Amino acid sequence: MTKKIGVVTGGGDCPGLNAVIRAVAKAAAQRGWETLGILGGYEGLLEPRQFRALDYHALDGLLIRGGTILGTANRGRFSAKVGHGETRQLPKELLDDTKRGMEALGLSALVSIGGDGSLSIAQQMHEHGIPIVGVPKTIDNDLEGTVMTFGFDSAVACATDALDRLHTTAESHNRVMVLEVMGRYAGWIAIYAGIAGGADVILIPGIPFTYDSICAKIRAREAQEKKFTLIVVAEGAREKDADFVTSAGQEANREARLGGVGAVVAAEVQQRSGKETRTCVLGHLQRGGTPTTFDRVLCSMFGAVAVELIAAGDFGKMVAFMGQQVGPVEIAQAVGRLKTVPPNGGLARTARALGISLGD
Ligand code: F6P
Repeated sequence: MTKKIGVVTGGGDCPGLNAVIRAVAKAAAQRGWETLGILGGYEGLLEPRQFRALDYHALDGLLIRGGTILGTANRGRFSAKVGHGETRQLPKELLDDTKRGMEALGLSALVSIGGDGSLSIAQQMHEHGIPIVGVPKTIDNDLEGTVMTFGFDSAVACATDALDRLHTTAESHNRVMVLEVMGRYAGWIAIYAGIAGGADVILIPGIPFTYDSICAKIRAREAQEKKFTLIVVAEGAREKDADFVTSAGQEANREARLGGVGAVVAAEVQQRSGKETRTCVLGHLQRGGTPTTFDRVLCSMFGAVAVELIAAGDFGKMVAFMGQQVGPVEIAQAVGRLKTVPPNGGLARTARALGISLGD
C-alpha cells in the first residue's frame, strides 16, 4: 500500500505557506508517497473531514503564490492561544478524535505548518501518540529553536518598502511619520525593517519607550537641519510603565489583538513636539503576496527536511533553520516561550551605533 501523509496549515497566514505545501508534496512524491492537504486547519481532520489530494497538478504555481490553498484557522476548537500569549491544554476527547481522523484518512504522519499556537497543538498531539512533524511559520519570527521562521523575510521586505516610500513623503513635507508594523510581542519586523529602511526611531516591545526620548531625537535631527523623522513602532511596543495597546475586545480562547500604538504615539509626538505627524498602519499587507527569494528557498528546505524526518520516523520534531542548513529540533523546545529581540543584542547595538533611537 502507498504511504500517505497529511499536511495542514494553522494560525495566521503568511507568504511561503504554499511553497512549503508544494515542497512537502513534491518530496513525498519522490518517495512514491501520496500527500493529502487537510483543509481549514486541524478542524479538517474531524468529521465531516475536509481534505484534497495534492497530486502533481494541484501544485502548479504554488511556489510564488501567497496565502494557503488549504485555508487556515486561528480560532475554534483547536485554538491553543489565549490572552497575552498563554497556551491552553486541548481536551483529551479532541485529541482522540484527531487520532481517529488520521486513521480514517489512512495517514501515517502529519506535517503541521504553523507558529507558536499551531505547534503547541502539534506538541500535544505528539504527546498523544500522533506521528507529527512541525514547520515553523510566522511573520513575527518569535519561535525559539530556529534562527528564522519562514514568512518573516517577506514581511520585512514589505515593511522596508513601506519605509522607503514614507521616507520621501516625510522629507517633502517636513513631517514625522510613524509606521506601525506587526510582530506581536517580539519586535523583529520593526528592528529589521527599521535598520533596513533607515528609520530614526525604532520602538520594540523589549525596550519600553518614553516620549521625552523620542522627542529628543526629533529635536536633535532638527538641530542638524533634518526636518523630518521616521519612526517604526512594533504593534507590541509600549510606553514605559504602560500596558499594550489593543485594537479590540478580548474574545474567548483567542490571543489578544494588538494594534493602535502607532496612532497613540503619533498623537503624543505631535502634541509634544509641535511637528505635523502622520501614521501608517501596514497591517495585513505584511502577510500577503509572494514570498521573497530567501523565503522560497527556506520553504523548500523546510518541506524537504520535514519529509526526511517522516521517512526516518523522527516525530515530535520541528524543522529549524540553523544558519546554513535545516535540521530537526524538539517541537517542545520551540514553543511556549517567545523569542524576542534581545535589548542588548547585535541588532539593538547596531541600531544604537548608527544613531538610531530605541526610545529609551
Ligand atoms: O502572528 C501573525 C500576526 O500577523 C501578528 O503579527 C498580528 O498581531 C496578528 O497575527 C494579527 O492577527 P489577525 O490576522 O487575527 O488580525
